[in-house]
Amino acid sequence: TLRLGDTAPDFQQESSEGIIHFYDFLGDSWGILFSHPADYTPVCTTELGYTAKLKNEFTKRNVKAIALSVDDVESHKGWINDINETQNTTVNFPIIADKDRKVSELYGFIHPNASETLTVRSLVIIDPNKKVRLIITYPASTGRNFNEVLRVVDSLQLTDKHKVATPANWQQGEDVVIVPSLKDEEEIKQRFPKGYTAVKPYLRLTPQPEQ
Ligand code: BEZ
Repeated sequence: TLRLGDTAPDFQQESSEGIIHFYDFLGDSWGILFSHPADYTPVCTTELGYTAKLKNEFTKRNVKAIALSVDDVESHKGWINDINETQNTTVNFPIIADKDRKVSELYGFIHPNASETLTVRSLVIIDPNKKVRLIITYPASTGRNFNEVLRVVDSLQLTDKHKVATPANWQQGEDVVIVPSLKDEEEIKQRFPKGYTAVKPYLRLTPQPEQ
């Protein structure tokens, strides 16, 4: 099973944009690899259309998206036309054609008690060091919230840079919390010149540091 902190497995597989060498595709970007149950299905059509529309948001954050299902390349290509037409966008990322389930099995995208044959809606965020930083799995009947995925990327990128964590429902620009392991007042002053509010000794809020 893939777990947080693991190295994301590398692979080569066919896609709607030719053979993907996963690590080469990622380069030094962050990656969002996400599976969907099948082409030509309604929820998946909306998910991939919405993801295409987020292209600028991904680019701003140095993120590359890549989708996957166990359908073949021809199916993906035909369906992409439908997504473009119905979602008023242009699919601008590859869809892996995982006919032999090689990638699905590497990443645990098939949950046999949900479906023997189809991938569930899983999504993995991978950082530039190829470490797995988020894993979510949704059922086939529930489309994912890609704004939430962007919010997690923002949190990860912020907390990688500063000794902070982000509270419940945090959004860009809102206060963050100072990690409990940071105790040194001199370092706190230096890192957070705007100061902080200690609601409890372990709950210290500070304005979001500059990115
Ligand atoms: C869908 O994408 O709409 C879908 C796929 C599989 C099962 C149910 C819904």
